[in-house]
Amino acid sequence: MENIDWKNLTFGYLKTNYNIRCYFKDGKWSDLEISDSEKFSIHIAATCLHYGQEAFEGLKAFRGKDGKVRLFRWDENSKRLQNSAEAVMMQPVPNEIFKKAVIEAVKMNANFIPPYGTNGSLYIRPLLIGTGERIGVKPADEYTFIVFVSPVGPYFKEGFRPVKMQIARDYDRAAPLGTGHVKIGGNYAASLRASERAHHEGFSSCFFLDSKTKTKIDEAGPANFFAIKNGVYITPKSPSILPSITNMSLRVLAAELGLKVEERDIMVDELNSFEEGGACGTAAVISPISEIQDRETGAVYKFASGNKEAGQWCKKLYERLQGIQYGEYPDTHNWCLEIEC
Ligand SMILES: Cc1ncc(COP(=O)(O)O)c(C=O)c1O
Repeated sequence: MENIDWKNLTFGYLKTNYNIRCYFKDGKWSDLEISDSEKFSIHIAATCLHYGQEAFEGLKAFRGKDGKVRLFRWDENSKRLQNSAEAVMMQPVPNEIFKKAVIEAVKMNANFIPPYGTNGSLYIRPLLIGTGERIGVKPADEYTFIVFVSPVGPYFKEGFRPVKMQIARDYDRAAPLGTGHVKIGGNYAASLRASERAHHEGFSSCFFLDSKTKTKIDEAGPANFFAIKNGVYITPKSPSILPSITNMSLRVLAAELGLKVEERDIMVDELNSFEEGGACGTAAVISPISEIQDRETGAVYKFASGNKEAGQWCKKLYERLQGIQYGEYPDTHNWCLEIEC
């Protein structure tokens, strides 16, 4: 076990021992390569550098109560990386390669998986980039797939406590028929100015509205939004948000806990009527929201559960999902893959 202050880990990069690499060249994928270097040499005309041929994923492995290591829903991340690859004309990574590389990255860095009870996990970052050279705007013919890991603590420094968010109307993260539904670097570049401003102005993250009508809730920073009202779990149905695997899982758990589940448009005006609101994603799991401020109109939407503590449904959903991830609750949906390490 590494000498790390596990309890005070943040959501940041920490050097580990190894990463895994795999190369697509001459029409086929190479064997996996294990590297102990954090550096990578690249052609100056690689398409990832110029034309944004880049996609990534984020998933986690957890050290459970029983000492076992569980990888959460890797197959969904693999599928989503394939969708992202197709959206920007990259060579998709086959499931078997994705799975093997992720498992190898976890095993090779087993000493960096935070112990049970520290609230930490091993964050896994698969990355696919166009490495073939081009000067004209065209897809590359060579690709590199890398998987690296980093032990992480909670995403929001407040932990599982309600946070304030800001609506940014003067920026769009994604276009209606653009690439908002896939996990490619360009979306994040487009969101940086609004998110940094939100942080600077004291908010934990910023909300983007649908860019066409500016009337509906779209993405909650690097997370999906969900709300609870009258026994219903409501989450936006939008072609420009990333289909969150956490949200997908919460919808199942919400139904099991007795909530009705609705995926539909959420108008900004409706924010006033919610009992609870939250942002969900791999990094934060659930971030309960106390209020949302509209930077331009000045409107403030407060959720009934208030500032102090997460609402009852956010708590229940969080406990159930983390319970499955840490092996405290039966994994009835087979979401976790146990890794021997
Ligand atoms: C823009 C965006 N939305 C939503 C999510 C949540 O997705 P997931 O639950 O699969 O991590 C993420 C990533 O974490 C994201 O970057």
